[in-house]
Amino acid sequence: MRRQRLLLMPLACIGIVGLGITGYSLTTQTNAQTTQTQTIAQGTQAPLREPDVVYVPTPQETVETMLKLANVGKNDVLYDLGSGDGRIPITAVQKYGVQRAVGIDINPERIKEANANAKKAGVTDRVKFLNQDLFKSDFSDATVVTLYLLPELNVKLRSQLFKQLKPGTRVVSHAFDMGDWKPEKVVQSPAGSTVYYWVIPKEIPQNLGDS
Ligand SMILES: C[S@@+](CC[C@H](N)C(=O)[O-])C[C@H]1O[C@@H](n2cnc3c(N)ncnc32)[C@H](O)[C@@H]1O
Repeated sequence: MRRQRLLLMPLACIGIVGLGITGYSLTTQTNAQTTQTQTIAQGTQAPLREPDVVYVPTPQETVETMLKLANVGKNDVLYDLGSGDGRIPITAVQKYGVQRAVGIDINPERIKEANANAKKAGVTDRVKFLNQDLFKSDFSDATVVTLYLLPELNVKLRSQLFKQLKPGTRVVSHAFDMGDWKPEKVVQSPAGSTVYYWVIPKEIPQNLGDS
């Protein structure tokens, strides 16, 4: 397992660099403040609070890898926590036929974009986007949860996932793992990203309960 982690480390680093090279910084206080100021100056709505991670979209090829890995289908209710332009919920409904999908994002600009994209894709009857802080959201009706956040945010979210989600719910994360909660599967997308897969267990191991 130690060897596997060592092999995966460079890939996680690539993920982090990937977030960086699109022009965003992960230590974003200054950038986030600038963005917020610009947004207010343009007369549009500001985020509920400073986002925990900047917006970087998952490449469409990796979206497909995530949805295939979770084997999503018509009986699923999918939540993307930090949903950006809505591509994961929209693809899940449009291409994989999930019953319904919900995207949650703290930034109203992302919600606006996601709603426009859902309209364009013709899926507004089965996809909705909520302008909420994911750490204060109720996603307990999910059967699949998708994430593209940061390693420390995944770990912070872990106990909330265990409290809210039913055993058997699948969790898929682009690029980042969940600390001590070891994934059941790890795959590479054709775009070169690592994708992690977990299933909520019946009994939560004691060491994973509170994060
Ligand atoms: C790296 S992007 C991922 C977008 C999308 N899930 C994807 O994979 O294409 C992270 C998103 O999380 C949102 N975000 C950051 N902190 C959040 C929070 N506390 N609650 C909800 N959304 C948040 C950001 O606004 C951003 O759109």
